[in-house]
Amino acid sequence: MTERIGIIGAMESEVATLIPALEDHKEQTIGIVVYHVGKLNGREVVVARSGVGKVNAAMTAAEMIRTFGAKAIVNTGVAGALEETLDPEDAVIATDLVQHDYDTTPFDPPGFVSGVGRIKIPADPKISAAAAQAARELGMRVLEGTIASGDQFISDGKKKEWIRKTFGAFACEMEGAAIAHVCFLYGVRCGVIRTISDRADGKADVDFPSFAEHAAALNAEIVRRVLPQI
Ligand code: ADE
Repeated sequence: MTERIGIIGAMESEVATLIPALEDHKEQTIGIVVYHVGKLNGREVVVARSGVGKVNAAMTAAEMIRTFGAKAIVNTGVAGALEETLDPEDAVIATDLVQHDYDTTPFDPPGFVSGVGRIKIPADPKISAAAAQAARELGMRVLEGTIASGDQFISDGKKKEWIRKTFGAFACEMEGAAIAHVCFLYGVRCGVIRTISDRADGKADVDFPSFAEHAAALNAEIVRRVLPQI
């Protein structure tokens, strides 16, 4: 049997096209999260909607690793653009991830995770390379770089600029770095694949609802395509 891959999306729209496509679909509910086990594009997977934010994402990742034996986790979903040339429906593939709201600055630089001893946690290069190729095959523009996560929807130019400058991040969202952190601690591979839904600025509250559903579905198609290769 090949290694099982975990797929986490925070919102319903981020896993909506993946769950109905599962073969040999079985469900198990733990807490408030439903874990969907089955086969997708020939790979054993467990797919779940974690809920929004770092705690939900971390808990779901740990459960996938401990209870469902996931040997790699792919995080799928949408993101706000920090890099100026990014437009809605462009793809951002994480090379590494940072928690922009992890702040012990009296002692360490912004984002420094003391238990891990670093600011940025790397993504698995094989997953990232396969994702970049799949997104390009779908005709998407792709940037590979740092993704910043935090328990905040960013819709403010000043905050956006601070995250971009402080961490050199290309996109922001609310789960990826928490999943990467858990995977790092358990020695499991992690990929974070995101499609832009807004520019994380003063118009993000309007752009997000208009672009998020299509961007999430596009992103899930990238994930389906990478499964046989990772
Ligand atoms: N996910 C999509 N857009 C986002 C934003 N602007 N801030 C945080 N997470 C997001």
